Amino acid sequence: MNDAVAESLELLSERVGDPKPMIYARLFERHPETEALFVMDKGGHVRGQMLSMVFEALLDGGERLAGLIGIERMNHMGYGVPDEAFDNFYALVMETVREALGAAWTEAMEAGWRARLAALSAAAPA
Ligand code: HEM
Repeated sequence: MNDAVAESLELLSERVGDPKPMIYARLFERHPETEALFVMDKGGHVRGQMLSMVFEALLDGGERLAGLIGIERMNHMGYGVPDEAFDNFYALVMETVREALGAAWTEAMEAGWRARLAALSAAAPA
């Protein structure tokens, strides 16, 4: 598949294995109030499930998952996650991938990610 976003995510997993700890560390650093929301998630299963949907949405660009993302947006309002934080999660993942890839991050990846983030916010607007 000629997809710079997919390629960057593959490289990420080759380099760091499971990216979950570094992505959630960045979330809790940026939005410290969100850490308490996960206290019940002892084994990290919910965090894992959430991240796999986020990756799926990023690979899909919102074409297939737009409806589900809208539902998750509403669920997340119920958890106390405002729309803005919800939407920024994709960009936070991009920053994490870019930092982890370092010199292996390409211009095509930057462009591909930016296009994908724009597609996602258009497909599942607040
Ligand atoms: C700052 C952004 C976000 C925060 C703080 C956040 C927080 C949470 C929390 C606290 C839970 C656990 C809820 C519970 O069961 O008690 C959760 C679950 C989940 N999140 Fe997120 N979330 C964010 C963004 C997203 C995004 C962008 C998506 C997908 C597009 C997503 C998809 C999910 C899914 C699929 C689950 C598990 C099942 C569910 O509760 O519906 N989350 N999230």
